[in-house]
Amino acid sequence: MHEDVKKVLITKGEIDKMVKNLAATISRDYEGRQLVLIGVMKGCLIFLADLLRNITIPVEFGTITASSYGSGTESSGQIKIINDVDIEIKGKDIIVIEDLVDTGLTLNYLKNFLGLREPKSVKICVAFDKPSRRKNPIDVDYKGMDIPDEFIVGYGLDFNEKYRNLPEICVLKEEIYNGGMA
Ligand code: PRP
Repeated sequence: MHEDVKKVLITKGEIDKMVKNLAATISRDYEGRQLVLIGVMKGCLIFLADLLRNITIPVEFGTITASSYGSGTESSGQIKIINDVDIEIKGKDIIVIEDLVDTGLTLNYLKNFLGLREPKSVKICVAFDKPSRRKNPIDVDYKGMDIPDEFIVGYGLDFNEKYRNLPEICVLKEEIYNGGMA
């Protein structure tokens, strides 16, 4: 275990099982349709890659980078698009792929933003959900698992851009995120 980690919250085995289940459900639901996954960078990167490799039907993917204004762990309420999707989504069935839904701000914004391009449908898939933190209601169509409101990193999730490479979902030691040592 990494020295900055307090405990492993979700093991690699549990994540693998969760991803396989989601991919199987999506493959079944979208059989015969024009499926496009839109990953929300950067947190989605590992989840998106794992999901894609487990989907068994034809699928395209794109990425979008959104950032909320302000600093720290609290969103300020405004979203900015840093990098837009580079593929046509009009008339296609899209699923927005997120590592984490917290307040729901990002997904609410992106669902409306992408919806303006007239895709045939827009659904949401998230690996991890912190329902206790929700401020903006959002329907999550495909969800891996609910998690408690703890400071988690790994499997694409970061603290100050670090720890994204940890293969498990880990709770960081308090002195790391309070002390600015990372
Ligand atoms: C995280 C996460 C979601 C968003 C969720 O991204 O990946 O995109 O926050 O929060 P919300 O529900 O309160 O909007 P972050 O801004 O940390 O960027 P990252 O994906 O590059 O880690």
